[in-house]
Amino acid sequence: MSMKKGIIFPIQIIFVCLIFASLIYQHEAILLTTAGQGQEQSTTESDNITQSGVPGTPHTDEHRIQQPVRPRIFDTVLLNDELELLEIRMNELDKVVDVFVVIESEQTFQRGFKPLHFQQASRDKAFARFIDRVLHIVVPNITEAEEARNRRIGGDGPWAIESYLRNKGVQMALQTFQPSPGDWVLHSDVDEIPRASALAEIKASSSSLEEENDTHTQAQTRVLDCSFYYYSFEFKRAESRKGPVLAQFQLAPTGVDPNSDEPVELNNRGTRVFNKPLWEDWPNVGIRLRGLAYQDRGPNLVEDGCWHCSWCFSNISLVRSKAASYAHSEHNTDTYMNNTWIIKHVRQGKDLFDRNEIYNYGGPPIDVPKFIADHLDRFAYLTHRYKVPNAGFLDVPEESIHF
Ligand SMILES: *[C@@H]1O[C@H](CO)[C@@H](O)[C@H](O)[C@H]1NC(C)=O
Ligand SMILES: *[C@@H]1O[C@H](CO)[C@@H](O)[C@H](O)[C@H]1NC(C)=O
Ligand SMILES: *[C@@H]1O[C@H](CO)[C@@H](O)[C@H](O)[C@H]1NC(C)=O
Ligand SMILES: *[C@@H]1O[C@H](CO)[C@@H](O)[C@H](O)[C@H]1NC(C)=O
Ligand SMILES: *[C@@H]1O[C@H](CO)[C@@H](O)[C@H](O)[C@H]1NC(C)=O
Repeated sequence: MSMKKGIIFPIQIIFVCLIFASLIYQHEAILLTTAGQGQEQSTTESDNITQSGVPGTPHTDEHRIQQPVRPRIFDTVLLNDELELLEIRMNELDKVVDVFVVIESEQTFQRGFKPLHFQQASRDKAFARFIDRVLHIVVPNITEAEEARNRRIGGDGPWAIESYLRNKGVQMALQTFQPSPGDWVLHSDVDEIPRASALAEIKASSSSLEEENDTHTQAQTRVLDCSFYYYSFEFKRAESRKGPVLAQFQLAPTGVDPNSDEPVELNNRGTRVFNKPLWEDWPNVGIRLRGLAYQDRGPNLVEDGCWHCSWCFSNISLVRSKAASYAHSEHNTDTYMNNTWIIKHVRQGKDLFDRNEIYNYGGPPIDVPKFIADHLDRFAYLTHRYKVPNAGFLDVPEESIHF
């Protein structure tokens, strides 16, 4: 799956064009739908299959949808600047994920500016071999209308922007790559790394949805439960944590209101539908996916399905960048972002934010993503920072530490 550097750039341009094309189309489709020419008009079988309600559009690809295909996995993540975690993730999931969707914006959750890190990094050797399977989604800055809407769903301030980025990013991804019924859409934060083995099992045990009109029984969801680490794989929390969710793409049952802010309902077997392929009018897809993590019903829960490595950064500058960017703006204070404070806490495995959270030092880790195990020197900061004077931060010279 490697490719020459020279053609990386054109492929990105194609993706950008696709995004623009679908945005233009999306706009038309919304207008048509509000004009009453949407679902009510869906009286032919082909309309039911495409669900677009707008014949002759770029999205009407009945042939492909009708062909049963092996389910694919689309991995969708939000990126701030965690490129090393992204690289570990892509290498772990290399053989099981079909399309990596990297969602970025020039705006942090705290409304600061951030560069489009993946845009720059995509030319690096680290990502070159994945690039023909990467869809880089650049979400435009939030508008006032979107902010008001996402405040209702996600919460105030930075939470509204996080909600917007999830919703808009996943929506734009689905617009660009039309999944087939049965394909899995995976959504998680970049530091929640699914185990390749867990995804391989999900893929192998699921089938494409051959009956286009079966909206109730076949589509499945999965919630991955993660071993939960802080700073490195040496410090583990006693309790695991749910994170990545997968949902099979499926045609919507009739009567589903795509604009509803309600989370997706699961049936009592935990195998409820992923709801609606009508991305033109499905603005809450990201939050609905994320919300599935709190709706496991037993059967869809995958125990020990991932690693969550929180604040697992090589550089102290990245710790500060996260605190200045993410939704918990209350953590972005002089006390917490003091270098001495950060180093002392990280090398002891103590909580940075006075929350009484306990991270247990478990000795040199043995259970890590394969890419880390294969590059232990490079990733020493993920396996060996306990009691190291500079806590393993590459941008803090050890000789500068006198505490
Ligand atoms: C399309 O779906 C609607 C709603 O389920 C149904 O009433 C209608 O009969 C379907 N049309 C065809 C041709 O299957
Ligand atoms: C987007 O938001 C960021 C941060 O507020 C700002 O720096 C940037 O100029 C904005 N971009 C556009 C195109 O408005
Ligand atoms: C799909 O709809 C057709 C026509 O209504 C019906 O014959 C068929 O049994 C349905 N398939 C499933 C799986 O429900
Ligand atoms: C960080 O904390 C240390 C120890 O409390 C203090 O000496 C230092 O001045 C602080 N640095 C900054 C930039 O506030
Ligand atoms: C981390 O710091 C080192 C040393 O300053 C620097 O070479 C490297 O580029 C930094 N890495 C990241 C990901 O910021």
